[in-house]
Amino acid sequence: MIKKPRGTTDVFPEEVVYWQRIESCARKTAAKYGFGEIRLPTLEMTELFQRGVGDTTDVVQKEMYTFQDRDGKSLTLRPEGTAGTVRAIIENGRCSDALPLKLYYILNCFRHEKPQAGRYREFWQFGVEMFGAAGAPADATVISLANSLLRTLGVKDITLHINSIGCPKCRPAYHAALKEYFSAKKDILCPTCQGRLETNPLRILDCKNPECKELAESAPKTIDFLCPECEAHFASLKRCLDAEGIEYGIDPMIVRGLDYYTKTVFEFIAPVVGAQSTVCGGGRYDGLMKELGGPEMPGIGFGMGINRLILAMQGSGVTLEPDDRPALYIASMGEKANETAMGIVEALREEGIHAETDLCARSLKAQMKYADKLGAAYTLILGDSELASGTAKLKNMSDSTQTDVSLSDIAALRSLVTE
Ligand code: HAM
Repeated sequence: MIKKPRGTTDVFPEEVVYWQRIESCARKTAAKYGFGEIRLPTLEMTELFQRGVGDTTDVVQKEMYTFQDRDGKSLTLRPEGTAGTVRAIIENGRCSDALPLKLYYILNCFRHEKPQAGRYREFWQFGVEMFGAAGAPADATVISLANSLLRTLGVKDITLHINSIGCPKCRPAYHAALKEYFSAKKDILCPTCQGRLETNPLRILDCKNPECKELAESAPKTIDFLCPECEAHFASLKRCLDAEGIEYGIDPMIVRGLDYYTKTVFEFIAPVVGAQSTVCGGGRYDGLMKELGGPEMPGIGFGMGINRLILAMQGSGVTLEPDDRPALYIASMGEKANETAMGIVEALREEGIHAETDLCARSLKAQMKYADKLGAAYTLILGDSELASGTAKLKNMSDSTQTDVSLSDIAALRSLVTE
């Protein structure tokens, strides 16, 4: 048997209902906040992520699905949606659109991580990105959008963690402090982090290696090294969140695993998911547009993991079932009756009704058993005598009451089965 690649998922209707609920609520929430949808290619040039996400990150160093296409170009299956969104804005000359420019996406991402519950190699994100608004009210708006969606979906016990990781002005002093701290413990670090000590010590803080993780816990905190501008921005964010009535905790351990972040970073954590409890992560990325060849333009956004969100909803007791029960099942006896039944169900479907009839030449008993399994609200038996009289008995399956109906009066049948 050929199996699916490790870390990918097959989703059947019983679970697709959760996806549909999330996608529809995400679209409605995005619309309330004035975000329009962007659709992007699954493949991007590898360089986009090397420059955008950063080539000292775990994502770029260890997790990308990169290959040469038949033209010899290096392409990568997107590991996230922010870099592609920024590229699309620059490439399509949308930097001069009315600001702030507000976009959202629902897309699949690919990362070669070690699969476990809540962590996959192909996963989906609902993400939003806002460009051209430098102040903390933009940060608070994006956070509030995520908060609103999570509440609408019924996720329980979710907490918002915020931090500031400073800007290029305050970062050199912080990097120096980190370098000093980790240099003294260099031998304990994994080989990748030993290299990061020279290139980008901040990245050691989100290494997944247990030894590096333990050392990171006592490392200097970004928040103690903020320049006056970053400090004022963070203070303003806290005031905006207070004004919006959104609860949060300051968490100096949140540094995020991608290089483009500046100032605000945040995560929504739902312990109900288990070890992979971060259902949403985001932050400000004021230098990314310029880095990718566009104008100087601030940005802020988040990515919400849809697969994790489903685990969080299920863990919170949200139960959804597919709405797939037919309003009517017509059981037929004989070819002529089956053809008449085909005509009736098709006419009802035209009216927007879910109606079914036999497609497997089953016996009457087997058809009734099948109708029961489908959970049909009404059944109708069609045989020679019904065809001759042009009427049949419509049975309400919940109380077994029967009503005579005319086979040619589709409007009457429609109103009876949708009562
Ligand atoms: P990220 O933290 O790498 O950020 O991913 C965002 C969310 O995607 C995570 O919080 C998690 O819910 C989900 N996620 C990440 N990796 C996996 C995985 N292997 N399996 C399942 N779910 C996963 C970003 O991707 C940024 N682009 C977010 C952003 C947008 N920042 C600013 N704008």
